[in-house]
Amino acid sequence: MVSIIKTLTTAALAGGIFASAAQAGGTVEVLHWWTSGGEAKAVGELKKAFESRGGTWIDSPIAGGGGDAAMTALRARVVAGNPPTAVQLKGPGIQEWALEGALNDVDGVATAENWDSVLPPALASIMKFEGKYVAAPVNIHRVDWIWANPDALKKAGVEAMPTTWAEFNAAAEKLRAAGIIPLAHGGQPWQDATLFEDVVLGVGGADFYRKALVELDQAALSGDMMVASFDQLRMLRGFVDPNFSGRDWNLATAMVSRGEAGFQIMGDWAKGEFLAAGLVPGVDILCAPTPGDGFVLNSDSFTFFKVAGADNLAGQQTLASLIMSPDFQSVFNLAKGSIPARTDVPLDDFDACAKLSHADLVAAVASNALVPSMAHEMAVPRSVRGEIMDLVTAFFNSDMSSQDAAKQLAAAVARAQ
Ligand code: GAL
Repeated sequence: MVSIIKTLTTAALAGGIFASAAQAGGTVEVLHWWTSGGEAKAVGELKKAFESRGGTWIDSPIAGGGGDAAMTALRARVVAGNPPTAVQLKGPGIQEWALEGALNDVDGVATAENWDSVLPPALASIMKFEGKYVAAPVNIHRVDWIWANPDALKKAGVEAMPTTWAEFNAAAEKLRAAGIIPLAHGGQPWQDATLFEDVVLGVGGADFYRKALVELDQAALSGDMMVASFDQLRMLRGFVDPNFSGRDWNLATAMVSRGEAGFQIMGDWAKGEFLAAGLVPGVDILCAPTPGDGFVLNSDSFTFFKVAGADNLAGQQTLASLIMSPDFQSVFNLAKGSIPARTDVPLDDFDACAKLSHADLVAAVASNALVPSMAHEMAVPRSVRGEIMDLVTAFFNSDMSSQDAAKQLAAAVARAQ
């Protein structure tokens, strides 16, 4: 991840020279889950750019935030012997599919365009299988964000964005007293897991997060720090309105846009929604990292499934090259709410929240506080993630004690391993 702090100029040169190396054209069927307003706008940029390189785009969107429905659909397609040409896939999922022999590599494009020199090494290694690129990253999303409606905060007498969980809880109480829903939330397992991992980082710090949610250390999963994390998650549960069950994340985001709710804790794809609604992040909508030091990393990428036919293979090459082109990384991420995966794309046109994301990312790399998102499939195999999410959701929707939750979490993880 060290090369993220490389000077812009050297890498920009490399990107410029090699950007046109791949062949044009071809056909891709793209399976993705970008169906909310901001997401659709961002993927629309990808489609437009692909078509302008002479390609034919077949859209296969599978609605459902966080991608769980998309992953189920993908498995069915592969089992039926009919995989899509390109699939939004990430983290250990890339390795899992590569191990099954399901992926084509795009290493020829990656070598010609020198991807190694423009990607943070930690990200590059997620994209590779047995030393070859099998995926191309489009962005870096940050998961640990609080979004807030400044008018709602003002009405409630909250003067600043919270910097500790105690401050967050106090601000939420003020919002409630002013008749405003403190926390916009959608009760879906991946959304509950998003809150959970942000709290784990904030309460326990990056080393604890890593021990518990990456290394799956039994003592960390069942210990006092985890109990304290569940205590704070219980507090958050109390700030949610009664109709939260099953609500889509972007509907929760809209509650903040309208000032019906004060806060949402969500990754910066929420910013894509604010942008699509014409709001200016940092002005009309406030952003701040969730309390605690660190950065929860989520990166979207596309993989290239084993398909036959010259046209499909050409489509994969064209898409891989396009995704990694500096211009595309800029245009796409301006709509998506994330920042470019490439280290050499200037951020001048990006908003204050994106600039903060980049600065905090660099700082987190330097202080070893960068952690991969469990909820967004960057940290652990899907089987383990599934067990963790089930437990977190069960806790969120019951009166389970924090002690029991920590104990059961450790047991659930052990079961999945
Ligand atoms: C994440 C994904 C984001 C965003 C979000 C909600 O897992 O990385 O790009 O789309 O789900 O759907």
